[in-house]
Amino acid sequence: MSSKIEIGRGTFGIVFLETDFHPVTASKYILKSSDPKIEQTFQREWEALKLLSHPNIVQVYELSEEDFCGKPYHVIKMEFCVRGSLRQVINNRKIIYSMKTFSCWAEHLLAGLVCLENHGIIHRDLKPENVLVTRDWILKIGDFGCVRRENDTKELSKDGTLRYMSPECAGFGMATGKRKVTCKSDLYASGLIMWEILERRCSF
Ligand SMILES: Nc1ncnc2c1ncn2[C@@H]1O[C@H](COP(=O)(O)OP(=O)(O)OP(=O)(O)O)[C@@H](O)[C@H]1O
Ligand SMILES: [Mg+2]
Repeated sequence: MSSKIEIGRGTFGIVFLETDFHPVTASKYILKSSDPKIEQTFQREWEALKLLSHPNIVQVYELSEEDFCGKPYHVIKMEFCVRGSLRQVINNRKIIYSMKTFSCWAEHLLAGLVCLENHGIIHRDLKPENVLVTRDWILKIGDFGCVRRENDTKELSKDGTLRYMSPECAGFGMATGKRKVTCKSDLYASGLIMWEILERRCSF
């Protein structure tokens, strides 16, 4: 078995750095489930990621299955973003960034969003924890676990993270049909991320 170093953990996955691969790879392990909803979540993440190839979206290499600690996992192998998540960068006071860097990062986020919009994909869980940072300080959108196609939106559950949810993602206006979850909902979350980059704290 290759050498694994845990670099992150979320609701669905454990992410390991795999140093035996070239290039060095981040592998997200998602426990296989008998619950079809959880399996669907994973399938959606993979289906979205394999469609996307953009400098501001994390690049996936392959999907495989592996037994780890006696349990079966789906494994998504992807590029390793050495500086970790944007949350880690924002919280690290030793990292000083300028307004010029801020405007570059805003461009990175928006360029990634345009790519998603062009593919009709809504991320639905954009937040600093799900934006990754490369050695060269390029931002890449990651963690597509809540992703949906734009034309799926009728049966949307309220997944995602409350702080970054636009009113329509949180269910407001859905009953009357006045508001629909679209790619613009990701733009709302990006605005909050930009605010947090500038303020170096959570919005509320
Ligand atoms: N490609 C990568 N390179 C470096 N670090 C990564 C990479 N992918 C994920 N991570 C780290 O692992 C953490 C968890 O990854 P991810 O958000 O994909 O998991 P998750 O289980 O889907 O999380 P969530 O709780 O948001 O559902 C990230 O916040 C980040 O710190
Ligand atoms: Mg995450």
